[in-house]
Amino acid sequence: MGFSNGFSMIVLVSLALSSLAMVYGNFNQDFDITWGGNRAKVFEQGQLLSLSLDRVSGSGFESKKEYLFGRIDMQLKLVAGNSAGTVTAYYLSSQGPTHDEIDFEFLGNITGEPYILHTNVFTQGKGNREQQFYLWFDPTRNFHTYSIIWKPQHIIFLVDNTPIRVFKNAESVGVPFPKSQPMKIYSSLWNADDWATRGGLIKTDWSKAPFTAYYRNFSYKDLRATTSFSDSAWQTTELDGPSRRRLRWVQKYFMIYNYCSDLKRFPQGVPPECRQSRF
Ligand SMILES: *[C@@H]1O[C@H](CO)[C@@H](O)[C@H](O)[C@H]1NC(C)=O
Ligand SMILES: *[C@@H]1O[C@H](CO)[C@@H](O)[C@H](O)[C@H]1NC(C)=O
Repeated sequence: MGFSNGFSMIVLVSLALSSLAMVYGNFNQDFDITWGGNRAKVFEQGQLLSLSLDRVSGSGFESKKEYLFGRIDMQLKLVAGNSAGTVTAYYLSSQGPTHDEIDFEFLGNITGEPYILHTNVFTQGKGNREQQFYLWFDPTRNFHTYSIIWKPQHIIFLVDNTPIRVFKNAESVGVPFPKSQPMKIYSSLWNADDWATRGGLIKTDWSKAPFTAYYRNFSYKDLRATTSFSDSAWQTTELDGPSRRRLRWVQKYFMIYNYCSDLKRFPQGVPPECRQSRF
């Protein structure tokens, strides 16, 4: 076999490997609509999904598969206009009373006022680890990518590839870490006007219903299987320099709530994972 044949063989094999490792979504293949009837719709041959909410009901979907570790990307375009009172939840969760959960929740607002991106991490059924952010763009104008990198060492939340939150494995100080319960991906759009917007002061304006959010371009990457991720990248616990700077920028200018700084809530001292370095 000549050099060029050998070379193209290698290219073919690595293309095949990377397409195995990176699975692009088709909503018909990868997800089930779980509630809300025809308020949830898949269109464009499975490339686009929408959820909507009206006076009668919200709607939701979940993944057919369960995942344990990996990188999960989804592009969302949130309810536009007056979305006050609505919540678009997008999260990973395992089952049962000691479930683990990794949450993005988008709290709507009146036209022109900022959404809040609410995040949380549950381990062994226990949450109370909220961090909230404003976004540096209008999440209703275009699709933006919301991602979870879930490794044995940490969970990283990213928005358009910018890390906004790192939840480190703090088992060494007694904090359980999600590492053995596979999770499904869920999303739902529902009415939460008792708390969502300015703490519940602003109610859903039903004359604007139905409220609709859009999803596209789901991908799951098994980080252990990709050829582009070396063993050391899989093992590493650190963000690189530019990512650390982006994370600090988000935390400095866009973070509006951090449970780790809420001394009123934890008069006996903040939870142990808060006492570790953030990166
Ligand atoms: C909605 O807008 C108000 C006023 O700008 C702001 O205080 C609040 O954080 C915004 N977001 C939500 C979800 O309440
Ligand atoms: C779809 O997602 C992949 C990986 O997450 C990304 O590389 C690609 O640019 C996305 N496509 C669009 C149209 O945004």
